[in-house]
Amino acid sequence: MCFNTTPYPSSSEEGDRPLTWDAMDVMYARYVNQKPMLDKPAKWYLLQRLLEYADEHKGQVSILELGAGRAYVIKKVLEQFPNLRYVGIEPDPVSAKYAQEQLAGFENAKIVHSLAYNQNQPIAEQDKFDLVMSLSVLEHVKDLKSFFAFGAAHTKPDGAHIHVYDLGHALYPSSLKEKLQVAVCNSVLRQYIPENKIARYVPLEEVESICGAHNIIIEQVTYHNMPSHVSWLKKAGQEELMGLITDLEIKMAQKMPPGLDKEKLFPSVCVWGHVRGQ
Ligand SMILES: C[S@@+](CC[C@H](N)C(=O)[O-])C[C@H]1O[C@@H](n2cnc3c(N)ncnc32)[C@H](O)[C@@H]1O
Repeated sequence: MCFNTTPYPSSSEEGDRPLTWDAMDVMYARYVNQKPMLDKPAKWYLLQRLLEYADEHKGQVSILELGAGRAYVIKKVLEQFPNLRYVGIEPDPVSAKYAQEQLAGFENAKIVHSLAYNQNQPIAEQDKFDLVMSLSVLEHVKDLKSFFAFGAAHTKPDGAHIHVYDLGHALYPSSLKEKLQVAVCNSVLRQYIPENKIARYVPLEEVESICGAHNIIIEQVTYHNMPSHVSWLKKAGQEELMGLITDLEIKMAQKMPPGLDKEKLFPSVCVWGHVRGQ
């Protein structure tokens, strides 16, 4: 087993200053008090599908998550299926520490502090997984080709892939700074931007083309998180309506032609596929 401790400054208001232990403690304390972010339709829907998947296989599945963050979603799955084997890869040290503590009680779960790039890096004893997923990560990845190469190299033949990505930073930037960040990250200048400062527009065609190059067959693409639904759900806290809302969003998006109009209406995209068996 190899724990790569590549230094990766935390994505925080600390900017580019070196992260001190004190700063890490302050950020960590903030995490502990934060509510799990499962109040958006895309993540809620994904959680339901993961629970169904684990249930179908009686919990005997292995999951690799690229960019695990604080491991909120998988913790909910592990609470119901504690025997499931899980490895989360997370380069941000504060998130990785938090996730490690969240999952400490689950024997078969571990967090590896690393970027999801080096295909030859052993990440677990059994190195191939039934399902490889990423949630709100693709838009923050500097090198998507290496990221998918890593994911594909760690997938069992016929293993599943699920990638949810958010176009909100690009389509609804909340500040001039974010607008500039997206513009720079979508240009040739991306190569000069640090790994933890990437936020960009990810065209579906790019995901399709990279997946194709790694034998990942995309079976379905679903669209979620209409901004007015998200803000209403946050305010009203009506989780019981999530099923209705996700159903409506998925069906509505199916009726629309591909393109920017659809992405503006539903800025979270979820790609469902599997690796072609050998
Ligand atoms: C918006 S956060 C999402 C975190 C988590 N998946 C969630 O849904 O809460 C994006 C995550 O992608 C991670 N990330 C960015 N580039 C990465 C890379 N090359 N490999 C693995 N993770 C990466 C970041 O460290 C960050 O935790």
